[in-house]
Amino acid sequence: MEYRTLGDTDVKVSLIGLGTMTWGEQNTEREAHEQIDYALDHGVTLIDAAEMYPVPPRPETQGSTERYIGTWIAQHRGARDRFVLATKITGPARQPHNPRHIRGDANQFDRKNLTEALDGSLKRLQTDYVDLYQLHWPDRSTTTFGRSVYPWIDDAYTVPIEETLAVLADFVKAGKVRHIGVSNETPWGVAQFLRAAEKLGLPRIVSIQNPYSLVNRTFEGGLSEFSHREGVGLLAYSPMAFGWLSGKYEGGARPEGARITKFERFQRYSKPQAIAATSRYVALAKEHGLTGAQFALAFVNSRPFVTSNLIGATSMAQLKENIASVDVKLSPEALAQIDALHELQPNPAP
Ligand SMILES: NC(=O)c1ccc[n+]([C@@H]2O[C@H](COP(=O)([O-])OP(=O)(O)OC[C@H]3O[C@@H](n4cnc5c(N)ncnc54)[C@H](OP(=O)(O)O)[C@@H]3O)[C@@H](O)[C@H]2O)c1
Repeated sequence: MEYRTLGDTDVKVSLIGLGTMTWGEQNTEREAHEQIDYALDHGVTLIDAAEMYPVPPRPETQGSTERYIGTWIAQHRGARDRFVLATKITGPARQPHNPRHIRGDANQFDRKNLTEALDGSLKRLQTDYVDLYQLHWPDRSTTTFGRSVYPWIDDAYTVPIEETLAVLADFVKAGKVRHIGVSNETPWGVAQFLRAAEKLGLPRIVSIQNPYSLVNRTFEGGLSEFSHREGVGLLAYSPMAFGWLSGKYEGGARPEGARITKFERFQRYSKPQAIAATSRYVALAKEHGLTGAQFALAFVNSRPFVTSNLIGATSMAQLKENIASVDVKLSPEALAQIDALHELQPNPAP
């Protein structure tokens, strides 16, 4: 395993991070525990959860993912400091697909909601602290979750970033949170958090958890420079574009039980232009003697602005292949061919 530094901290995290959002929906508690055991035994030291998980978000299952991690922690009391535990507060429902069942519609990042959310997560996780506490998406309308056109919406109310940061700083002071991060953020949002930290002498954000894959390199447009010059690295999510880049949906195939077959909700990588681009990357992987999954993950691993590549798996076979991607190195020729395809059709699934 390779390890990279989390922001400007002295914490190292594994280049492969364990995503958890299928636990409690496509995966049982026993399977979740098996994944944690295998991942930790193979050098993974970052586990990423959210109060909202599993997905698709439903009131009946909400919190199961954190509960499963919590029961693992309870059964392995000495092991809590073996990994960096990340979780997230759910953001306000500003887009139709955002859930409305968690603290209702007024789920903004004020002191009351943040405190309630963090205490709920700590309880489910059966731990006194989370290493990285993230805001799942911004408390304002912007280009999140596949919006490629800036919406220009004047929100009736948003909590000022300085106010949110002050609450997060209190969590750090109280020892409930070690570090803070953002998710689904834009360059403007990241700049605001860094400016507020400097102005008020409060903790800096250490990470940006955004989508990043062969078919979505939007992070490179403005955010990669924050990673380079400010040390706020990327926790890359959906590195396989929900599984599309494995190639298993090629030619219209719909394998039983797989995310795209099972759930109507997951449309982000299903647009015709994304499917066409995916086929080109899957063919390129084959040319280089690699599976689509290895190729897609090795590409993400190769990026210097990535702190950790958050993989997801619904079976042990997938988990093993995905963790093993850390040993797959793409040749300069393969990387140049990828960039050429990207030039041809940049970000078909933003
Ligand atoms: N902050 C956010 O808003 C956000 C959003 C999304 C994800 N995340 C984080 O990122 C993690 C990963 O996201 P993701 O699940 O979307 O990642 P992904 O890598 O794009 O998709 C993972 C899915 O692809 C399929 N798959 C994985 N490995 C495979 C393989 N080797 N061969 C064939 N199919 C394979 C599995 O689904 P099937 O078996 O069902 O096909 C698996 O659940 C999440 O668990 C979560 O922690 C965060």
